[in-house]
Amino acid sequence: MSFDNYRLRVNSCLDTHLSQSSALSENMRYSVLAGGKRFRPILTYTTASVFGVDLAHADSCACAVELIHIYSLIHDDLPAMDDDDMRHNQPANHTRFGVGQAILSGDALQALAFDVLTKNDSIDSGIRVTLVRQLAKAAFSMAEGQSIDLSIVSKKVGIDLLYSMHGKKTGALLQCAVMLGALLKPDLSPEDKAILTSFSEDIGLAYQVQDDVLDVSTSDAVLGKRQNSDADKDKPTFPSILGMEESIRVYKSLYQKASKRISQLSVDESPLRDLTEKLISRTF
Ligand code: IPE
Ligand code: IPE
Ligand code: MG
Ligand code: MG
Ligand code: MG
Repeated sequence: MSFDNYRLRVNSCLDTHLSQSSALSENMRYSVLAGGKRFRPILTYTTASVFGVDLAHADSCACAVELIHIYSLIHDDLPAMDDDDMRHNQPANHTRFGVGQAILSGDALQALAFDVLTKNDSIDSGIRVTLVRQLAKAAFSMAEGQSIDLSIVSKKVGIDLLYSMHGKKTGALLQCAVMLGALLKPDLSPEDKAILTSFSEDIGLAYQVQDDVLDVSTSDAVLGKRQNSDADKDKPTFPSILGMEESIRVYKSLYQKASKRISQLSVDESPLRDLTEKLISRTF
């Protein structure tokens, strides 16, 4: 199945999970169905597919990861955080519905993610507990990373702190997207698990370094969010510390390292390699 098909597949599953009719559900649908790139669910499906996992088993993992991601974006845009008024080429959730409703929408999306994951009884219950723990740990790391992000505004910090912050605020959930897909295979070998752990750590980190670069180089219309949001808020970023050229070199080399690492998997890794290529060349 192509990456575009994975995107359509997760869109349709997300739509089903948001079918209740209530004001809060409308608010959640506004942000979830706004047209994100869906790279996290695509990572989950691609990883599951290279290990021969039935994609019907991967649907709830793909949705759960994306629901956490969208919740993180709604809260990230709040006036008390990045104070951004545009996301996915439409007014940010709080701009459209107000701050209180946006907070609640994020809260509800996080709860829904765990509901979706736990209620899929086509997955063995022991595996489901493992998946829930992975997702909980990633969501926790994301919040920790966001907390560091807020605490260093307008401060001079070293690049090591940024590596660690990016790994938490963004890397952890991308890593989780890969690992959920792999953990659906009951007899995943410790060797394959270790390879995927390091692969996903690198692409997760690369993804946020690249996001920092795109914030500087790409227009509002292409990004679907405000260009220069980081500089406007005086946020320490890879480009603000290392410069653009070196930051681009950093994320490209992390993707390349990740791509090399998966050649040691026991299965045909080419779909994951193709996806990594797509990530390197993303323009928004
Ligand atoms: C943006 O993520 C925020 C980060 C964590 C880097 P995406 O670029 O993946 O967001 P979508 O595609 O708009 O949902
Ligand atoms: C976002 O980082 C990280 C999370 C949402 C967890 P950014 O603040 O850089 O993301 P954008 O640029 O607003 O999408
Ligand atoms: Mg932020
Ligand atoms: Mg932001
Ligand atoms: Mg950003």
